[in-house]
Amino acid sequence: MAISAKMREFVANGSMIRKMFEEGARLKALYGADKVFDFSLGNPNVSPPDIFKRTLKAVVDADEPDLHSYMPNAGLPAARAAIAARLGTEQRVDVRAENIVVTCGAAGALNIVFKALLEPGDEVLVSAPYFVEYGFIADNHGGKLKIVASKPDFSLDLAALESAMGPKTKIVLINTPNNPTGKIYPENDLLALAEAMKRKGARYGRSLYLVSDEPYRKLAYDGAKVASPLASCPNSIVVSSYSKELSLPGERIGFAAVNPLAEGAGEIAAALALANRILGFVNAPSLMQKVIALLIDQEGRDKGLPACVDVSIYQRKRDMLAKGLKSAGYDFSLPEGAFYLFPKIPMADDGTFIDLLKEENILVVPGSGFGVPGYFRIAYCVDDATIAGALPGFARAIEKAAAFA
Ligand SMILES: Cc1ncc(COP(=O)(O)O)c(C=O)c1O
Repeated sequence: MAISAKMREFVANGSMIRKMFEEGARLKALYGADKVFDFSLGNPNVSPPDIFKRTLKAVVDADEPDLHSYMPNAGLPAARAAIAARLGTEQRVDVRAENIVVTCGAAGALNIVFKALLEPGDEVLVSAPYFVEYGFIADNHGGKLKIVASKPDFSLDLAALESAMGPKTKIVLINTPNNPTGKIYPENDLLALAEAMKRKGARYGRSLYLVSDEPYRKLAYDGAKVASPLASCPNSIVVSSYSKELSLPGERIGFAAVNPLAEGAGEIAAALALANRILGFVNAPSLMQKVIALLIDQEGRDKGLPACVDVSIYQRKRDMLAKGLKSAGYDFSLPEGAFYLFPKIPMADDGTFIDLLKEENILVVPGSGFGVPGYFRIAYCVDDATIAGALPGFARAIEKAAAFA
């Protein structure tokens, strides 16, 4: 056998998201791109803001001698300082450059955090539905994902989370705004979670860490506020990126931020920097670090130009989709943030319904891909025309599903 048994299994069972994305490519080749409604992947379709493009050009034109060089594994001092200052203001905590490690996206940040914290067999507690990559990333570092159902409205089930915290739990992982539900967890829930972690930590004689995966923080609708995990829980680490808020997923730029009040904060930051190197990331892309440092600095001086995509575009897409699905009879909660909608499957058999949508050339991801069967995820970071074009197909599919009852 050329590859390990574990990788063989991973390849076979891979990600449902990628499978649907590949199915989309096949259908597009067959019927033409405009006849296929692909809602499978969270690939932002809104352009990066102008401030990003201008800053990128300025950095390239300046052509500094170290533009493409190796650097400290934790990142460029200017990028770490800028990220710390911006995050500190957002989250009301005195974050310093030494608390920041610049990473290859949020996924790179999760990898270095898990590498730094987990002993073999340690558990990472997560609320379902959850982003499928978490299981693979925990496994990369000898950890095990322990899954706890959320409440029916997809808020955190705090009692269930607390009772699931055991002697092997090291990390409680949250994702807010959430992929795939669009839920934003309120501050009171984060405070209660932090208390529960403290109680369980005292009981088992070990420190539990809250890891908040928040690449969608800036994509919040109707003026919703995203609470601060750093202010709510001293033992916390934020992982985030510019993949969604600046529409740069292919540039692989993000960060991990260790709460300065966390137990062992200095030791953790040093371990994260080493993990960045020995996992082969070495350092986050140099060009992008320079751009982010300058862009945050510019944003601070020019309040009229927020360094973020135009969130009202995603809100408009959400509203357009929600209105159409509601009038067709779908059951879902309105997403508060991110760019996903997670309706119930309107019949007993999930696979049959996903096939009914495929007959309409509509590609979505079944909820089982996020640990919750009975639902499906629509990534609405697509053209308005894709949403408008798909709505009649969504309506026909739910009518056909009713015939199966
Ligand atoms: C919840 C969640 N976390 C992390 C990531 C990874 O993001 P990045 O591109 O910054 O690695 C994604 C990407 O879709 C995501 O949805």
